[in-house]
Amino acid sequence: MSKQRSVIIGSGSYLPPNIVTNEDLAKTVDTTDEWITARTGIKQRHIADKDMLTSDLATEAAKDALKNAGIDASEIDLIVLATATPNRTFPATAITVQANLGITQGCAFDVQAVCSGFVFALTVADNMLQAGNFKKALVIGAETFSRIIDWTDRTTCVLFADGAGAVVLETQQGKGTIADRGILYSHLRSDGRYEDMLYVDGGPSQGKEGFVKMSGNDVFKHAVKKIGASIEQALTDNNLVSDDIDWFVPHQANKRILDAVAKRIKLDESKVVVTVDKHANTSAASIPLALHEAVKDGRVKKGDLILIEALGGGFTWGSMLFRW
Ligand code: UT7
Repeated sequence: MSKQRSVIIGSGSYLPPNIVTNEDLAKTVDTTDEWITARTGIKQRHIADKDMLTSDLATEAAKDALKNAGIDASEIDLIVLATATPNRTFPATAITVQANLGITQGCAFDVQAVCSGFVFALTVADNMLQAGNFKKALVIGAETFSRIIDWTDRTTCVLFADGAGAVVLETQQGKGTIADRGILYSHLRSDGRYEDMLYVDGGPSQGKEGFVKMSGNDVFKHAVKKIGASIEQALTDNNLVSDDIDWFVPHQANKRILDAVAKRIKLDESKVVVTVDKHANTSAASIPLALHEAVKDGRVKKGDLILIEALGGGFTWGSMLFRW
């Protein structure tokens, strides 16, 4: 039975030029390159200059994705932008990106699921395309996470960073099988009982700005367990085994989480796309940044089956399967 599929026809990314190494951080907080490398796999991160907003990073990533998709911005009628660090409380950062790209048709809005934001945004866009109301979508993950970090807190400031990644989706006719190109499956979850393990201690309704607070050890354990279960569900629901996956493009929070999840699902480590060493944790931007890197260097090829996953504050978590 034929089925419409949302196919990714291009990807792009943008990283602010300023690189901060572990050694740089060790000069300002009580940490070492050895600790950060051993506990997280992170060696460096990109940090946006003060005058650079989330919309600026997102617009650059979107332009790159449009160029690589070979289409003009005027063809886009849907923008879904995942971010936990919007320019303003309102309007949505996606609206600014829409204007920056000169798009005056369709609609644009933000999705807030923190580090799982890209998985949620891609699912939302896919469903809107499938409903038949839109034709071509930009899905963007963009963050200036450095703005919500307490730079004197060594337990969080070494982990997070800035960046943006984007993909262009268009509907194409598939056969309705797992061999189709495009988005094949999505599994989304959230559970607010874990809110206090990873959060920002402020926000508009509280009348104060805040910083990221995290119970790292607890988040680590939940991440491995919940992401592992989500992926197992994805494989079972689609009659797949881990050997069927060509590329695993996980949210880049910690190399040890990536290794533990790959081990749990018995996936060969050569299939795991790792950028956490260079980008650190860019929250909603981390998956499209990693995906685009693997596309750019030729690892991801047409027809490859790709698995993505993430867990973020809330908790929110989930996994997706798509064929490139
Ligand atoms: O993307 C959203 C999801 N987020 C995550 O998935 C993050 C999940 N958590 C993690 O990645 C890890 O838990 C961390 C990297 C945050 C921490 O690693 P850990 O192995 O769980 O370390 P820990 O929190 O148990 O801390 C061990 C020690 C502590 O010292 P004591 O109490 O043993 O004396 C910390 O104070 O390491 C200390 N420590 C540091 N030392 C040097 C914490 N941060 C640092 C630091 N430099 N930056």
